[in-house]
Amino acid sequence: MLEAQERNVYMHVEIADDVYWVGAIDWNLRIYHNTYSTHHGTSYNSYLIMDDKVALVDAVYGPFGEELIGRISEKIPPEQISYVIVNHSEPDHSGALPLLMKRAPKARIFCTAKCKDYLKRLYFADWEFTTVKTGDEISLGKKTLRFIEAPMMHWPDSMFTYVKERSLLLSNDAFGQHIASSQRFVDEIDEGIIWEEEAKYFANTLYPFTTLIKKKLDEINNSGLPIKMIAPSHGLIWRKDPHRVLDKYMYWAEGKAEQKVLVAYDTMWESTAAMARAMVEGIQRVGIAVKACRLSASDLSDVNKDVLESKGLIVGSSTVNNTVLPAMATFLEELKGLRPKKKVACAFGSHGWGGGAVKVIEKALQQAGIDVIQPGLMVKHRPDPEGLNECVEFGKKLAERVKQDEG
Ligand code: FEO
Repeated sequence: MLEAQERNVYMHVEIADDVYWVGAIDWNLRIYHNTYSTHHGTSYNSYLIMDDKVALVDAVYGPFGEELIGRISEKIPPEQISYVIVNHSEPDHSGALPLLMKRAPKARIFCTAKCKDYLKRLYFADWEFTTVKTGDEISLGKKTLRFIEAPMMHWPDSMFTYVKERSLLLSNDAFGQHIASSQRFVDEIDEGIIWEEEAKYFANTLYPFTTLIKKKLDEINNSGLPIKMIAPSHGLIWRKDPHRVLDKYMYWAEGKAEQKVLVAYDTMWESTAAMARAMVEGIQRVGIAVKACRLSASDLSDVNKDVLESKGLIVGSSTVNNTVLPAMATFLEELKGLRPKKKVACAFGSHGWGGGAVKVIEKALQQAGIDVIQPGLMVKHRPDPEGLNECVEFGKKLAERVKQDEG
């Protein structure tokens, strides 16, 4: 009888002299953070830095712990690791720590004070910690690690580790993308996918914190630290002109977006959908790009990306029980949490005998900090030809407003 045989092949990758990717690829991850769809999977990137003292920056998600140990072991026995740098405590980067710390029992963990607190609450382990602040450095021998706190980029405990002699920024979640790939560098795959996933990451994870992010980007840009490579803890590594991703983050953090309108709606008997189609026509007539999505048929984490990339929003729902349809209610709650900056919006919808949805939408948009053009547009039952013309004009009006805003 033939027996199935496991063959473990681990492949570390040298990303800079004496700096090795030893992380793991999660080809099958499809949901992250409960609601974030990861169509391309992800990777958990971990970096081994060889020197007189050996450091490991970030671990991987728990189920991938043996892969991490396997890749480290291709270079050195794990017990030779002196320092484990934890840039962020969330389990996708720390889940393998209990296994790692068993295999490297003499290692000391370096992290922010908040990260230490969180790790203690997550793992109840008796590890040796050194807490660090921005500007603290440790020497590995010929190489120096410098720490840069980065709170809310994306947790309060987040930090970056900078490898001075390699001008290499190990940025943890920031500047990463949820992509599983056999390639390790951005320039080795289709950049269109990279930018899509960068935007989706920013929209779903960082959007509420743009003020802090802008400050942190200013700090990095003004620090004088040369950055030749940015290696995040998800996805692919920026080695050619990594400043492009810093610039893109600044663009989003400043609330800049394309001259584009997102028409997000939901509909019960297709009347609100007919209104949405007429609005799309109006927007197109002004020459502005438009995307329409029926929320109950859409992936909310993809819609969040479209919000990030659009200056204007037209939001519509049929009225049911004096309020909006459930998928719209979820979208509006999400918007209130994301607090998108510098958006302009208006509301619409059809109703039978009482039209509460438009008011609910307008209130929620205002609570999200969005500039709302009023009054919204309501139609009783079905829009007739005159009603559809009104919808076309309604779309044109918002598109004209978006067109005027060149910022
Ligand atoms: Fe906040 Fe990739 O974890």
